[in-house]
Amino acid sequence: MVKRFAVVLAAGQGTRMKSSLYKVLHPIAGRPMVLHVIDQLKSLQLNKTTTVVGYGAEDVTSIIGEKSEYVTQEEQLGTGHAVMQAEELLGSLEGTTLIVCGDTPLITGKTYEALIQHHESSGAKATILTTNAPNPTGYGRVIRNEDNEVERIVEESDATESERRIQEINTGTYCFDNRALFEALQNVSNDNAQGEYYLTDVIEILKHREEKVEAYLTFDYDETIGINDRVALAKAETIFKSRVNEQHMRNGVTIIDPDNCYIGPNVIIEQDVTIYPGTMITGKTTIKSKATIGPNTEIQNSTIGEETSIRQSVVIDSKVGNHVKVGPYAHLRPETDLEDEVRVGNFVELKNASLGKGSKASHLSYIGDAQVGSNVNFGCGTITVNYDGVKKHETVIKSDAFIGCNTNLIAPVTIGKGAFTAAGSTITKDVPDHALSVARSKQVNKENYALRLTKRKK
Ligand code: UD1
Ligand code: CA
Repeated sequence: MVKRFAVVLAAGQGTRMKSSLYKVLHPIAGRPMVLHVIDQLKSLQLNKTTTVVGYGAEDVTSIIGEKSEYVTQEEQLGTGHAVMQAEELLGSLEGTTLIVCGDTPLITGKTYEALIQHHESSGAKATILTTNAPNPTGYGRVIRNEDNEVERIVEESDATESERRIQEINTGTYCFDNRALFEALQNVSNDNAQGEYYLTDVIEILKHREEKVEAYLTFDYDETIGINDRVALAKAETIFKSRVNEQHMRNGVTIIDPDNCYIGPNVIIEQDVTIYPGTMITGKTTIKSKATIGPNTEIQNSTIGEETSIRQSVVIDSKVGNHVKVGPYAHLRPETDLEDEVRVGNFVELKNASLGKGSKASHLSYIGDAQVGSNVNFGCGTITVNYDGVKKHETVIKSDAFIGCNTNLIAPVTIGKGAFTAAGSTITKDVPDHALSVARSKQVNKENYALRLTKRKK
């Protein structure tokens, strides 16, 4: 089998992004765009992947890691010059070289594979991935001769008025016969409007040598969008979002308003889940079957159980069991673990807290650093007083306890099984199993005292 190599161009600064962050590191769906490119190369069984780095080299290499080898382009003299930097690693090898730009993050492995197949079966020395762009402005245009063969690529800034009207564009992705590529690169000059060594000139050079040059036209323009500025970045985000959402919908997830729902690439959603508008689900999150999420909910790195409902709430690094109800307006901070049938309602905040099966905190509570058994009821306004200004302390509440409204639980403290605390108590000492604890001052009623007060005011 022919050996396959890939070169990823990622040395540019991305001036048009107007950013202190290097272009290829701008995220799409939370993931640096160059990683989307690297992800899609995975399926191609490449013998070698080389990334050309320059601006932000340290950041780019540390983000890509061992999935690639690296060459450095000290000065950014153009895409042709960038590929030349890989000569030492690749120049002498026989095989097919796929060249991809780090700023075209939506091209899929499937399209790369089709391009390589087309290239290898046609026996061409070069094959360009092209597409018809509704608005080709900014892209290199594909110039064909009267026999409809590819002649050359002309950049926007070097193109004539009539060439600019051509809608077939160079996507910046190509397959080359590796040897022919590096030979032709020797002859690329920087005699053009931008004073750069264009990779695209290799096409014309090969054509002049009467080598076979092909174009593989993809109909999916959306896939090939190049990200040069933040307008294109937003478009890419939208395209990526609908791609992910469509995949989930095809897998049996109902999304009420897909334009208004953001799901990250590593999210798993089971069948018959319903997602309401304004929802953002990211990180390594799993949503189990028949759960309903949203509206207006944010979930990060969490597991949500079957038939659980999360409304108008924020859930971060947490685990939520089956048949649980969360929200509206609950905040599950990291390390919250809710077992089945738990209820967490309005304005309840949890952090590093586990609630056993069937426990309920329905209103206005803060439960932090707490281990709570099953069927515990929190009255409105319960607070675990977990922080003394220096250290965090734990609250343990055993099963079937009943915490009265507005109880302060001064940690470290343990409330025994089936114990009650009276409303308004400030509990500073452990409460034994099945005890009632009253920790508030006794009520004193002074007969007619209010009348005396009003008289005095007059
Ligand atoms: C390039 C193509 C254009 C094509 C478009 C597709 C050239 C001359 N033009 O234009 O025909 O339609 O992509 O999106 O190739 N880079 C380097 N070193 C450099 C210059 C660029 O590594 O010296 C990298 C950039 O980081 C980027 C990629 O190459 O990832 C493309 O460079 P960019 O400047 O964005 O090229 P375009 O003007 O978009
Ligand atoms: Ca570009």
